Amino acid sequence: MSVEFCGLQLAHPVLNGSGTFDVIAARRAFGDQLLRDFPFSAYVSKTITLEPRQGNPPPRLWEASAGLINSIGLPNKGLEGYLAEDLPQIVEITGAGAAEVPLITNVMGSTAEEISRLLEACDAHEQIAAIELNVSCPNVKTGLDIGSDPRQLEEVVRAVRPRTRKPLIVKLTPNTADVALCALAAQEAGADAVSLINTLRATALAPRDPTLPAGRWLGGGTGGLSGPAIRVVALAQVAAVAARVEVPVVGMGGVQSAADACDLMDVGATLVAVGTESFRDPVAAARIAEGLRAMGAA
Ligand SMILES: Cc1cc2nc3c(=O)[nH]c(=O)nc-3n(C[C@H](O)[C@H](O)[C@H](O)COP(=O)(O)O)c2cc1C
Repeated sequence: MSVEFCGLQLAHPVLNGSGTFDVIAARRAFGDQLLRDFPFSAYVSKTITLEPRQGNPPPRLWEASAGLINSIGLPNKGLEGYLAEDLPQIVEITGAGAAEVPLITNVMGSTAEEISRLLEACDAHEQIAAIELNVSCPNVKTGLDIGSDPRQLEEVVRAVRPRTRKPLIVKLTPNTADVALCALAAQEAGADAVSLINTLRATALAPRDPTLPAGRWLGGGTGGLSGPAIRVVALAQVAAVAARVEVPVVGMGGVQSAADACDLMDVGATLVAVGTESFRDPVAAARIAEGLRAMGAA
């Protein structure tokens, strides 16, 4: 059942998508049951930035056909707040069950300098088993997402890679011309694994209701589409990436069932992450891991 990933021994291949499962809130809602039946084999934090972020103004969510557009805008306490307040609570939860669940901290910065500081800080904390670098962040100079251009991505990952000895997973953006080229660039620059897909850029107009102001609905103008609507895109992108890289691939996007997870593994994913489905069913990942076991896929 267990699977080796970047030197970590995981109980099964199902983890969470960053930003879609808040363990601290879940502990409040579900109590110690969460510790006994922790749904994921590794826990990925939401994205942490150097400075605190408020996130986008509301409205932040839009229910699309077979999916969800979120324009949350990565609110977080910033690096210091995460390390001082969240990390001890997360570790208390993920380290308390029958099996210890490794913690993967997801970070994002708009320059190599910012990312370097984040990686160095994570490197100094032994409770953090691995780091996921979210490259869906605009470069301050070009305005382009760091991960959308293979050359820019390779330059940034190469510059920051020496700042940590921990496994580095690069979370690719799907909003690019050729995701496999981006994955290769990340691998060349020293990534130990890649993960995909992040949300697809999307928007929604306000409902045609005279009591509401017309125009864009989402506070951030645009947002990211996730859920079943993106499953087939995820399958295509994970297949394209897994065919080109040698490093392990974490596949995600619209996974709701063991069959969906199995599809991603069939095209080359080593691990599968569950995101939006956890909002509908907080123990979805446990159900999916159990289903994989029953199918003989894990
Ligand atoms: C509400 C919400 C918040 C998210 N926050 C983050 C985040 O903080 N960092 C990140 O890298 N991805 C974030 N994501 C993207 C997910 O981790 C995942 O890549 C994406 O949603 C596709 O998987 P899914 O269709 O199973 O949700 C977020 C997604 C949602 C729906």
